[in-house]
Amino acid sequence: MRKPLIAGNWKMNLLYSKVPHYMETLSVELKKANWSKQAVEVLLAAPFPFLGLSRELGEKLGFFVAAQNIHEKADGAYTGEVSIPMLKDLGIQWTLIGHSERRQYFNETDTQVASKSKFALQQGIRPIICIGETRAERESGKTNEVLENQLLPVLEAVQGFDDFVLAYEPVWAIGTGLTASDEQAQDAHAYIRALLAKSNKAWGEKVRILYGGSVKSTNIKGLMSQSDIDGALVGGASLDPLEFSRIVTYGSSH
Ligand code: PGA
Repeated sequence: MRKPLIAGNWKMNLLYSKVPHYMETLSVELKKANWSKQAVEVLLAAPFPFLGLSRELGEKLGFFVAAQNIHEKADGAYTGEVSIPMLKDLGIQWTLIGHSERRQYFNETDTQVASKSKFALQQGIRPIICIGETRAERESGKTNEVLENQLLPVLEAVQGFDDFVLAYEPVWAIGTGLTASDEQAQDAHAYIRALLAKSNKAWGEKVRILYGGSVKSTNIKGLMSQSDIDGALVGGASLDPLEFSRIVTYGSSH
């Protein structure tokens, strides 16, 4: 049985000074809804400057905290970058890798995503590895091909590990208000799960696959009721702790 994981991705939003109020509000709302981390895990991917504080508060309240990106080297002359040892020193145990915005605006390649994923796992950090097709790729019938091209280098790189999560995030659904239908999402998740199982039978059973792309409290139940959807990666709707708490609560009751 895969435990659901609902992850918020704040991207480059919010402010350090707002973090305590956010965390407190989320915690109060989840308590009201009888949230138990035994039933569903909650994670927040915060900007680098908030990570220390978010981890301290998150730990007390039962949430995981993740970085949104990592560098693939442990240290060195890479001005402006943040390494895994630095994150571990802050107590961070999770990171997003290969978000479509990293691929689109910072030219991250499938090869880099694969090597970052491997490095994270070697260093004891759990990656949430993001994949997904653009609108043009979906419209030309290339969704499965794109998912395979993005995923296979990762699966090859992470052989021997199993503590990773995948996130299927169709690029056309991110921040657009257009969510994949429950069936479109389930089809992609089933395809991804088949690729996982083909590489390693245990992965097919164990690895969680999150859906991301305009997830809201109004569409989470339908998505979570699909057999291969194990949670969500929530961008815009995670910025409001009230809405995010509803997503967690509805996502737990499927
Ligand atoms: P969105 O973003 O929920 O705002 O569409 C999802 C993501 O990019 O992880």
